[in-house]
Amino acid sequence: MPQNTFDARIAETYEEKWPELFEPAVVDPAVDFLSGLAGADAGPAGTGAAPAGPGATPSGSGAALEFGVGTGRLALPLSRRGVRVHGIDLSTAMIAQLRAKPGAEHVGVTVGDFATTRVDGTFALAYLVRNTITNLTTQDEQVECFRNEAAHLGPGGCFVIEVYVPELRRLPPGQTVHPFAVTPAHLGFEEYDVAAQLAVSHHYWTAGGQVEIYSSTHRYVWPAELDLMARLAGMALHERWAGWGREPFTGESRSHVSVWRKPAS
Ligand SMILES: C[S@@+](CC[C@H](N)C(=O)[O-])C[C@H]1O[C@@H](n2cnc3c(N)ncnc32)[C@H](O)[C@@H]1O
Repeated sequence: MPQNTFDARIAETYEEKWPELFEPAVVDPAVDFLSGLAGADAGPAGTGAAPAGPGATPSGSGAALEFGVGTGRLALPLSRRGVRVHGIDLSTAMIAQLRAKPGAEHVGVTVGDFATTRVDGTFALAYLVRNTITNLTTQDEQVECFRNEAAHLGPGGCFVIEVYVPELRRLPPGQTVHPFAVTPAHLGFEEYDVAAQLAVSHHYWTAGGQVEIYSSTHRYVWPAELDLMARLAGMALHERWAGWGREPFTGESRSHVSVWRKPAS
């Protein structure tokens, strides 16, 4: 099982630490994008559809599987749109936060490693957001994750990833560190091991004269490498955008939303 860096300390303060992720301007376009791919026969909004997973329809239409569901930042609003959502996560602390939220009873959850954990049912949509693919720190695990996603999709099903474009252009020769957050409340810097294709994100939050420290290791991955992983899993690139609003992806884009599709038959 990969290391669980989302322990109780992080889970209980996830929304406080990354409040920008919960802004409607961030959540709503993502939910629009994902619900569109989940299928037109998702039930009426607000009805609290039954959780997906065990019992998802044979075609998977209207059912979505989130890898690294966390506290339900996207799973809960997606479920309110009538999409039957099932999530996999290895952090019981993150799942406990999800469980405490209104509407959580409509989201199915399985505890496990999303690179290998199987749940029953077939899904129209599988998704992995907020750079979470990089939590798998070897290429083998990332490849397995794509295979696992594909195995859950029905014909024509989509797999969506939201992830940053590696920022190696910020590193002058000989330098291994660059800052990504410099505010009075939060200092963050990325420390690269380019030979291993790994980066450690170091965070320092200050509040009330105290400093809280958190570090996590990530395997950064290029769009083209992700396309190859998709191909190994029997999928092909369908769309790539700079963001959930389908902004064009260019050489200046700092992150991307990519959709790979399983053949329709
Ligand atoms: C950055 S958070 C994102 C949570 C949620 N998707 C969101 O958008 O707010 C990453 C989540 O993925 C989970 N996670 C990381 N690696 C995992 C793995 N190998 N298997 C299952 N869950 C994993 C963490 O426990 C955490 O809840």
